[in-house]
Amino acid sequence: MRHLIDPTDLTVKEIDEILALAEDIIANRAKYSEALKGKKLATLFYEPSTRTRLSFTSAMLELGGQVIGFSDANSSSAFKGETVADTVRVIRCFADIIAMRHYKEGAPLVASQYAGIPVINAGDGSHAHPTQTLTDLLTIKREKGHFDNLTVGFCGDLKFGRTVHSLIKALSRYTGIKVILISPEELRLPDYMLHEMADNSNLEFREVRTMEEVMPELDVLYMTRVQKERFLDDEEFDRVKDSFVLDPEKLLSAKKDMIILHPLPRINEITRSVDNDPRAAYFRQVENGKFVRMALIYTLLKWADENKPFEHTPVFNEEYVISDDLRCGNHSCISTTEDVDHIFRKGSDGMCRCAYCEAKAK
Ligand code: CP
Repeated sequence: MRHLIDPTDLTVKEIDEILALAEDIIANRAKYSEALKGKKLATLFYEPSTRTRLSFTSAMLELGGQVIGFSDANSSSAFKGETVADTVRVIRCFADIIAMRHYKEGAPLVASQYAGIPVINAGDGSHAHPTQTLTDLLTIKREKGHFDNLTVGFCGDLKFGRTVHSLIKALSRYTGIKVILISPEELRLPDYMLHEMADNSNLEFREVRTMEEVMPELDVLYMTRVQKERFLDDEEFDRVKDSFVLDPEKLLSAKKDMIILHPLPRINEITRSVDNDPRAAYFRQVENGKFVRMALIYTLLKWADENKPFEHTPVFNEEYVISDDLRCGNHSCISTTEDVDHIFRKGSDGMCRCAYCEAKAK
């Protein structure tokens, strides 16, 4: 059974195939209108969403399938204390595939261990958002024509920005990629990501504190929102919330063919006056999200019918250990609140890292 929990669960070749299928769907909409007739998608959203949930819904309906689910954890039996594992063992009786968003990091990975049907991670806490990554990759492909040799600036909340973490992981498998990390000290990329990037000889990266100093170099500027909901301390949020604002003046030094991406929602980090700039690709990006999710649902259900095994098994290969002694040090990890196996892997920095959220063990 194949799931999509992390962008690297798909090989580069498989990602290429999914993007190519999305482009075929865009060009031949009618051909796919009954492709998943009789199939059901369950959207299990424990955290708010506009784009991801509704684009999954729209994607399934446009493939001729049906959708069930909930958009608020409090309207489900999670409110009564039901675990993720038990919930998906129930949902498998009603649906063929699950898209899950959860505020706890690693919840979709737990779901994938119990569901018996494909599980798609639609965003888990601050950790990962692989279908946003497919959306971003399709947008880069359609706007720039290639992935290799691009300089990509990630700006804003790189600490809690799950879309940033997943896109960097995906881009690190192409050649000639330069990543420029633009954030205040408080919102730097998590250390596990920095270690992985330092170990990857494919990838060049550096950290800076202003977007102005790197703007002329960029092929892609990936803006992000500072996520109030992830901060434990309001004062810390207030200190960093207005760190970066992209406006037409800052774009004067940018390349004429640079593209501006943003997973959205935006608050104040891109002024409205940027929206009419042809380089502003963020609303085109949203539409690509529906098509790439159509391609993903179609592919995962086809693989489920073929019983295609994992090429990369994220948890159960010899790199991972189930431990009675170690515990995850991240309070946002699913393993700190639900009764799950405590699974760890030795990271590239020599530290034992939680399989669910990649944080250090304690
Ligand atoms: N990009 C994204 O995940 O948006 P939503 O939170 O609205 O789903």
